[in-house]
Amino acid sequence: MTAPPSIPLAQLRLSVAPMMDWTDTQCRVFHRALAPNARLYTEMVHANAVIHGDRARLLAMDPVEHPVALQLGGSEPELLAQAARIGAEYGFDEVNLNCGCPSDRVQAGRFGACLMREPALVAESVAAMVAACPVPVTVKCRLGVDDDQHYEVFLAFIEQVAAAGCGMFVVHARNAWLKGLSPKENREVPPLRYDWAYRLKRDRPDLQVIVNGGIATLEDATEHLRHSDGAMLGRAAYHDPYLLHRLDVAWFGGELRSRADLLRGLRPYVEEQLARGVYLKHITRHLLGLFHGERGGRAFRQVLSEGAHKPGADWSLIERALALTETRADAA
Ligand SMILES: Cc1cc2nc3c(=O)[nH]c(=O)nc-3n(C[C@H](O)[C@H](O)[C@H](O)COP(=O)(O)O)c2cc1C
Repeated sequence: MTAPPSIPLAQLRLSVAPMMDWTDTQCRVFHRALAPNARLYTEMVHANAVIHGDRARLLAMDPVEHPVALQLGGSEPELLAQAARIGAEYGFDEVNLNCGCPSDRVQAGRFGACLMREPALVAESVAAMVAACPVPVTVKCRLGVDDDQHYEVFLAFIEQVAAAGCGMFVVHARNAWLKGLSPKENREVPPLRYDWAYRLKRDRPDLQVIVNGGIATLEDATEHLRHSDGAMLGRAAYHDPYLLHRLDVAWFGGELRSRADLLRGLRPYVEEQLARGVYLKHITRHLLGLFHGERGGRAFRQVLSEGAHKPGADWSLIERALALTETRADAA
């Protein structure tokens, strides 16, 4: 068997987590503008939806997004293989299998985090996906489910899946509790144990290991890089997207640009989207956190939230919101 393709290490240092309802193509284009070197992930799409659904919508992607990964949900090797092949044909640079989502809907479908208990099925799925598509097949997982407390069980899961052709693991470094917690609570309540991810990297230096979960500052992210191949940020990247820009500049170099300058760089994209019939609100909802913690940030958010859904809303609304951040900052 030839070795499965691997991902250049520089592309792994910084990534933005897959987030359902959030990391759609408009969001990813915005994140790309802030962080030219980040790896981006789609929302999870079920393999069945890729095969039978509205692909043009589900797999919508702009060429500026590269490198960008498609995250799949599912647990049927044949379907996952077919969906992975389609994803690669659509131009995605990686196909990632979700083994971390704890929602009831996902549990009923026997995929997501409950797959942590089925390493053989995950390995079979990964092997089928690797055989079906030319891009790297990766896995995003938890440390375990419910009361799993043994690192050896986690390691055994990883080793079985790695043997099937997965060379990169995103480790959301906490367990998923499948009973009694909402998905939101499952991102907050089970304790973080970064040491397991670090230990995995030490035990299997041949594997690419990305740390995810609770990373909220440049300092935290930089510390994770000392022990792993990369840091994946979810909520912090979404709510405070300028952090992505600061990380990108700190790790890859370049000039720190202002928030307004970065946003104005998106004007041609926004106008092209509007001309294609996309509503402004579908773009601006991802921009609301850009001035997080800054003077005028609340006014920026308010102007966009209140105006973007109105008929005819266009770029001028964004300029109006930006003007408030500029005057308020000047007035300080
Ligand atoms: C709104 C939302 C949607 C999410 N959807 C997905 C998803 O589709 N697939 C997935 O693997 N994880 C999903 N997650 C989990 C994130 O990818 C990430 O693992 C988690 O938020 C922990 O990282 P953070 O603390 O940096 O946010 C989602 C998280 C949020 C907040």
